[in-house]
Amino acid sequence: MEQKSKPSQEEAVLVQHAQRSKITTSRRSFLRRGLAVGGAGAIGTGLLAHGVPVFAEERSRDLTSGDIAILRFLSAAEILETDLWQQYNELGGIQDSEVPGGSGSPGYIAALQVLDGDMPQYIHDNTEDEFTHFTFINAYLVSKGADPVNLDKFRTLPSSKATGAQQIGRLTNLMQLSVDTSYWTKYRSRTQNPDFGDTFPPAIPGLLKGQFPAIPRNDGDLKGFKPGANPTIPKHLQAIANTAGFHFAFIEQGGTSLYPSLAQRVSNPEVLRILLSIGPTETAHFQTWQDKAGNAPALTDPTNGLVFPDLNASGSEDTQTNLIMPEPTIFLSRKFPPVSIIRPTQTEGAAMGAAKALTDDGLFIGQSKEFFAVLQQLAEAADAAHR
Ligand SMILES: [Fe+2]
Ligand SMILES: [Fe+2]
Repeated sequence: MEQKSKPSQEEAVLVQHAQRSKITTSRRSFLRRGLAVGGAGAIGTGLLAHGVPVFAEERSRDLTSGDIAILRFLSAAEILETDLWQQYNELGGIQDSEVPGGSGSPGYIAALQVLDGDMPQYIHDNTEDEFTHFTFINAYLVSKGADPVNLDKFRTLPSSKATGAQQIGRLTNLMQLSVDTSYWTKYRSRTQNPDFGDTFPPAIPGLLKGQFPAIPRNDGDLKGFKPGANPTIPKHLQAIANTAGFHFAFIEQGGTSLYPSLAQRVSNPEVLRILLSIGPTETAHFQTWQDKAGNAPALTDPTNGLVFPDLNASGSEDTQTNLIMPEPTIFLSRKFPPVSIIRPTQTEGAAMGAAKALTDDGLFIGQSKEFFAVLQQLAEAADAAHR
């Protein structure tokens, strides 16, 4: 959401921009003069007189409007990510000074721990990472005289009523998800690539055929849970935790593609550095979650018929659970040998693609028309950016 500022503030920002570009222009002409005087030696060492490093000056030059649009879309995406991860952390993570809010749901945590005993820690750490992503990008935008992103007015969706969740307005809905698990087969294929137009079957087809909760919606979703050394976890509750497990990887593989896709259209080297430094943390998250989702027990949810199949039963590499490192596949052209890569990384329409994927996921069910308009506006601006 564009942060609404009073006309006087907008004017101030415009004046700031104008002043900054003047400063930049004079700095550049100084650099050009310096280079002309300094000659090849100065270029070779990257230094001007007075010890001013040429390349550092170049790196700190102003951002293009495209750079700002890309950063603003990423900030919005990170705010949305933070909102959903916060909901997971309140019920299934660790609530502390780093990630405050909520008090945990013992039943949900026990079901998540069937996937891995460390799930609460990982959920906590992923949540904290997302918080730092948008906070950093917004602070960077402000430092360059650009508007940060603030979506607070869209925090209107209900919280889970389950014990342990805060009762506050949310940006995202984790209770009606249709999770696309085609990332599973996409990263295991050795012959196909989404950038070539290839499509991939979902590992858990049932998750695309309805709307399912990834957090307990209320205490009724925890019915039948008995704590203890060998807790009793009803199948419905385990299905909710399984859905979360696959959803974690869905979200993070999206970020894994989004950053390299947008990086190709960044102009400023420092902005490029930001994208190249944040993007791989999404990949680190994805890798972890993919491994954990592979431990989700096969079951059928008796309340809605959602099936989690045994992914190793077919013997196919396309669903094998421990193939969590990207299989090599085709890239750029079939004339090249297969290579292990992130996929997709096609840059055209990457921001709109990400917005659509999050929308199709059901995350924004209940959001206002204005919310979708703002998201689309941010995505379109980012996709219009070019070098
Ligand atoms: Fe992130
Ligand atoms: Fe992420």
